Amino acid sequence: MEEKLLIGITGASGAVYAWKLLKILKEIPVRVEVIITEAGKLVFKHELEKDWMELHSLAERVYEEREISAPPASGSAPYWGMIIIPCSMGTLGGLASGQTRNLLLRAGDVVLKERKPLVLVVRETPLNLIHLQNMVTLTLAGAIIFPAMPGFYSKPKDLEGLIESFVTRLLSFLKLKDYTHQWQGLEDD
Ligand SMILES: Cc1cc2nc3c(=O)[nH]c(=O)nc-3n(C[C@H](O)[C@H](O)[C@H](O)COP(=O)(O)O)c2cc1C
Repeated sequence: MEEKLLIGITGASGAVYAWKLLKILKEIPVRVEVIITEAGKLVFKHELEKDWMELHSLAERVYEEREISAPPASGSAPYWGMIIIPCSMGTLGGLASGQTRNLLLRAGDVVLKERKPLVLVVRETPLNLIHLQNMVTLTLAGAIIFPAMPGFYSKPKDLEGLIESFVTRLLSFLKLKDYTHQWQGLEDD
């Protein structure tokens, strides 16, 4: 892929999904840039026990939410699309209402207006009506709601396997990687 892939990391639980995704992307010929929110930094530290600065090892550039004049803020920048992983309900709501108060929201808004793929790996439970309506609004606007809901049918042996199968499924959906766990149906008893 010539163009770059933007990865947004918000303060929803599930920083490990972003970390795993970036590690897999590092192994394939895709250029990657990251935007992380302030809440994203906190949750990243809490859940992964790593500093967000470690993201620099897995991406060409890492932007903070305050860098509102950075390239992802413009529709002229050469991005293929954006995955927000994990995506908080706050960022979901911001995108659904067209708010662009930080770089991550502006980048998502730009990707939508440029009619490029915007994938939202939303994470919250339970969901209220506002969350659900925001997902409908964004689906109508062209975004893809790809909830952080790993499947168990691939029989992952551990948490690492569960996360890897979810992230690989996401990359397969975007045609960036083959998904090895293709469902063949249940065997007859
Ligand atoms: C440890 C922790 C876990 C959180 N998990 C979630 C979550 O799963 N989903 C969510 O929508 N918000 C979650 N939040 C709340 C968001 O971080 C908060 O709403 C924040 O304002 C989101 O900002 P952002 O979208 O700019 O990252 C969590 C916060 C903390 C501290």
